[in-house]
Amino acid sequence: MSSCPFHPHPAGAALPAGEADARDFFRQAQAEGLWVGTFESWKAERGTGAEGGVRLTTAELVFGAKLAWRNQARCIGRLYWRSLVVRDFREVADAAGMYAALGEHLELATRGGDVRPVMTVFAPAKAGCAGPAIRNRQLAGYAGYRDRGAVLGDPLNCALTEEALALGWEPPGQRTAFDLLPWILVGRDERPRWFPVPAGLVKEVRLVHPTLAWFGELGLKWYAVPVVCDMALRLAGAVYPAAPFSGWYMGTEIGSRNLADEARYNLLPQIARCMGLDLAAPASLWRERALVELNAAVLHSFAAAGCRIVDHHTASDEFGRFCALEEAAGRSVSAEWDWIVPPLAGAATAVFHRPMTDLRLRPEFVHGGHAEERAGR
Ligand code: ARG
Repeated sequence: MSSCPFHPHPAGAALPAGEADARDFFRQAQAEGLWVGTFESWKAERGTGAEGGVRLTTAELVFGAKLAWRNQARCIGRLYWRSLVVRDFREVADAAGMYAALGEHLELATRGGDVRPVMTVFAPAKAGCAGPAIRNRQLAGYAGYRDRGAVLGDPLNCALTEEALALGWEPPGQRTAFDLLPWILVGRDERPRWFPVPAGLVKEVRLVHPTLAWFGELGLKWYAVPVVCDMALRLAGAVYPAAPFSGWYMGTEIGSRNLADEARYNLLPQIARCMGLDLAAPASLWRERALVELNAAVLHSFAAAGCRIVDHHTASDEFGRFCALEEAAGRSVSAEWDWIVPPLAGAATAVFHRPMTDLRLRPEFVHGGHAEERAGR
């Protein structure tokens, strides 16, 4: 392992957690040339925010948010960490203000398909207050309706769908497998409220296959931009529970997981049947063959729709370049092998053959207190 100038959790056992995080962040900001002087002089100059933690300048917040991405051990796409657009909305803690800013986030991130990484940071957590928080896993997500043991839509979102229905949301017309969920926002000292997804802001891509004509008739689609809302940004002694961030998709996230997992849309049997494969014989490799065609459809459809997406081979190579750049800068890369290796052609990608260690670096994104904690990958 190459030397890492920034201890993951610096000799901090004796310090309050916030102080250790602030010092750790300070060292990194200082190394980047954001402050010339001691930690004490920086802290005194900045002062403490109302919610605790050092009151960072916007430049420091931007840098910290980028570091949190660079440190995200499960992300294969970190080559682009410096390009993250960070929006400083720390003065916004009410649901109406969040709603407006989230619409802008989608627009800035989607750009008609020319997707770019964006993060919006709302007010930090305050002791004893629920908000600000976003109850959705992502800004786009499809409802999952439980119906006598079966689910119409995305089973991942059943609980959120029930929460939205209980708050008074009604699906637009007849229920389908691809109904966009409303946003459930919680302002500071406010009750959860649902808000409609602003019309036209969630770009969706209908799935067709480059050679299999019947594929388009399956009526499948996915949204263009994953805006992750269920992770908090932990930075310099403060926690930002509402700090949604987005990048572009890697095809396998949709083709090998969202649409393929048994616990999600579970489409492999249907696709394999359409392909005329023998589902009774596992050794016919019907699952693999269906997976390949589904993934091919995802990559092809996004490209045809002019929507940025990366295939897992390119992403794997980009991850290698990221590691090389980090090592050249004297930093160790923190990574979780079982999250980085793509769920298709694992050993045929370079990342499979690379040893990885989770260094638990900070600043970081942490899963926030959503009802169903997602432990799985
Ligand atoms: N895996 C999640 C999904 O399929 C998205 C996580 C973030 N992905 C990304 N490419 N930035 O929706």
